[in-house]
Amino acid sequence: MRVLVVHGPNLNLLGEREPEIYGTTTLAEIDAAIAAGAKDLGIDVVCEQHNSEGAIIDALHAARTTSGGVVINPGAYAHYSYAIADAIAAIAIPVVEVHLSNVAAREPFRRTSVTAAACRAVVSGLGAAGYLLALRSIEKLAR
Ligand code: DQA
Repeated sequence: MRVLVVHGPNLNLLGEREPEIYGTTTLAEIDAAIAAGAKDLGIDVVCEQHNSEGAIIDALHAARTTSGGVVINPGAYAHYSYAIADAIAAIAIPVVEVHLSNVAAREPFRRTSVTAAACRAVVSGLGAAGYLLALRSIEKLAR
């Protein structure tokens, strides 16, 4: 099975961006860990990072014919993008949302995720390990 992993805005700066919140692991290192975990699970994984809302929506639309599921960290779009929420709802494949930080324990505006409501599940606060848990769950949800 093929799974698309989508990293949203500002996640390209992981490693240097607010390390006290997001740690010092770079996105390239996270993608390498995802690739290794996917190999163990027998999943063909493709990782993409997009800063713009439209590019994320296009990636979700494309995934409906190329992938069996999607793991997405929508970044701040999670908190207000009804367009990404609609794109997730529009595709029939399972989508699992991941946040590196525990968004429930941060500023009030981060406690709402409009995209999570369209997803099958959410993993928040486990750092990069959250992507691997989400990958594992996608495999089960897609069955
Ligand atoms: C994040 C949490 C969001 O609130 C924030 O805007 C991000 C990263 C996370 O992975 O913890 O960009 O999605």
